[in-house]
Amino acid sequence: MDLIQKPLLAALNNRRTDPPPIWLMRQAGRYLPEYRSMRAGAGSFLDLCLDPAKAAIVTLQPISRFGFDAAILFSDILVIPHALGQKVDFETGIGPTTVPVRNGSDLAKLSTERVHDLLCPVYETLERAAHGMPDDVALIGFAGAPWTVATYMVEGGTSRDHAATRAWALGAPEDFERLIDMLVEVTAEFLIRQVGAGAEALQIFDSWAGALPAHAFARYSLAPIREIAARVKRACPQVPVIAFPRGVPLQLPGFASAGEIDAVSIDHATDPRWVAERIQPSVAVQGNLDPALLLTGGAEMIRAAREIVETFSGGAHVFNLGHGVLPATPVEHVRDLVQAVRGE
Ligand code: CP3
Repeated sequence: MDLIQKPLLAALNNRRTDPPPIWLMRQAGRYLPEYRSMRAGAGSFLDLCLDPAKAAIVTLQPISRFGFDAAILFSDILVIPHALGQKVDFETGIGPTTVPVRNGSDLAKLSTERVHDLLCPVYETLERAAHGMPDDVALIGFAGAPWTVATYMVEGGTSRDHAATRAWALGAPEDFERLIDMLVEVTAEFLIRQVGAGAEALQIFDSWAGALPAHAFARYSLAPIREIAARVKRACPQVPVIAFPRGVPLQLPGFASAGEIDAVSIDHATDPRWVAERIQPSVAVQGNLDPALLLTGGAEMIRAAREIVETFSGGAHVFNLGHGVLPATPVEHVRDLVQAVRGE
């Protein structure tokens, strides 16, 4: 099949499609009973991410159930710190934890040497998933943006204020930049290898972009993402790159005009009408239903979904949420959402 005939790839190549393609961030996750049973028998969450046979099945679970237009690789942004030699754990009810990296001597303990050996299972997951995909469904690879990955590496896990990361970034920028540069290097190569293994589009998650002070935004969020996208484009010019800078609506024009970035994913706090006017003329837009509406479901969810489709109907749009599917989401609401977006 001509790649562009896949609705997701058509939209990411800036074509208007009616209806828009739909997939959801965290579409493979705890709200799905088949995920929970796979997870229960797989050991730790990281074990599941690094078990290609199981991770490929999980990647395809939401496709079999809902017929989404894209499957996203089942993995996590924190496989990169793990592959750099940092200790990473996922504890039920707590989330990810790491042994923090806070200065130059902590940095010296990390190594890029074995990164791609340790990440081999991720590439194999993509190869396996690519074989099980329906013809019109696209396979998305992903990575965390350097800033967001750095916050988990520096804070020791999820954080409310990211104070230690900001203190390091703003107080000792030469050292902190070595961490960012290391992440740019390995993340670009990671994404290029994902394409080699079957990824047809890539998303870069900058979930904590909104924690940066405005004056440091260009340096630690936009510039590293652009550099990664540029390297990916040099190696694989045909593969669209989606950036998801969460919590920074006023910075979206910088992504839209960057050239290396094909689409921006917008969070639910961002006004779609403003984005349709200011951003969509330059690049495809992905988003932005509030995941909380998937908890409620019913007429309000359907009304809000249709309104988003309508608002973005003048240009290229990929329907998605403003952030990931919440674990308490009823699966029937997801089915209703897909139908509403497709006008069924
Ligand atoms: O379906 C998909 O979207 C693909 C898989 C995927 C996961 N994590 C699986 C996951 C993707 C794309 C991610 C990205 C990710 N991981 C981000 C960026 C997007 C975002 O949510 O902002 C971030 C910040 C992480 C780090 C992370 N991983 C956190 C903070 C947590 C704990 C919170 C939680 O939801 O439990 C995780 C764990 C995680 N990643 C789970 C899944 C399915 C749940 C773990 C479990 O099953 O026990």
